[in-house]
Amino acid sequence: PDLYAVIGNPIAHSKSPEIHARFAQEAGQVMQYTRLLAPLDSFATTVQKFIEEGAKGANVTVPFKLDAYALATILTDRAEAAGAVNTLKFDGDTILGDNTDGIGLVTDIVRNAGVGLTGKRILLLGAGGAARGALLPLLQTQPSQLVLANRTLAKAEDLAQQIALNFPNEARITTCEFADLQDQFDIVINATSASLQADVPPIPPHVFGVSTLAYDMMYGQQPTVFMQFASAHGASVRDGLGMLVEQAAEAFFVWRGVRPQTADVYAALRAQL
Ligand code: ATR
Repeated sequence: PDLYAVIGNPIAHSKSPEIHARFAQEAGQVMQYTRLLAPLDSFATTVQKFIEEGAKGANVTVPFKLDAYALATILTDRAEAAGAVNTLKFDGDTILGDNTDGIGLVTDIVRNAGVGLTGKRILLLGAGGAARGALLPLLQTQPSQLVLANRTLAKAEDLAQQIALNFPNEARITTCEFADLQDQFDIVINATSASLQADVPPIPPHVFGVSTLAYDMMYGQQPTVFMQFASAHGASVRDGLGMLVEQAAEAFFVWRGVRPQTADVYAALRAQL
């Protein structure tokens, strides 16, 4: 069977092998998908060895997404914009680098949550790797407004400027400090790592209304503190488990040309949390 893996360090906790095994079964695709622990200083040689074993592709997770970006010989626009690669596809001497995280987020919001983004006001919180990965796919849905807010404003400004320079045909991103947020938004996405410390970015509660979807890229058995804060101010909430499943589905599509159904996999993962 065609060979794939998720490469990271650590890697034992990764849900990707289970997700892709379920996709393959559901889509009738014969493939083998394993976990690959790469030494911290040997990502490239680990990938080269895997290619020599006949591998067709890989997912890349912490801490190697920048190494994968550097290793790729061709990059998709969304990987270029993200500055990071989570999906590799091997084809002869070519190593295609893609990033499916942002489109996974968009698909989960639009298709699974049933919330359209076109013409909507979107607030994206954070300016690290997670936020950066989401920017181009969010812009491509043609929201009426995309505001990027971050604790360190300069990082948000740098990101917005980079996207504007490299993708001049996309609409502009505006930037803002948390405390200066004036308006209510249709969608508020938490791409900060604050939830990891059970912390909420200090945003004014008036960004939320009863028609707002508050989305946290993190997930867990309980709603995150960001989701609790947003709920308390009237918003509907959703965690990032669907984004995890949809980024995997997009990687599967990149490799196999087939779009797997995701609902059953999502339900199975939810039940395991
Ligand atoms: P990731 O790759 O997960 O995005 P990162 O690159 O370390 O991780 O970025 C973390 C993001 O979460 C940053 O936007 C960070 O804000 P700063 O740029 O000001 O550091 C944000 N962040 C982390 N902890 C936070 C907290 N407690 N409150 C608000 N923002 C926080």
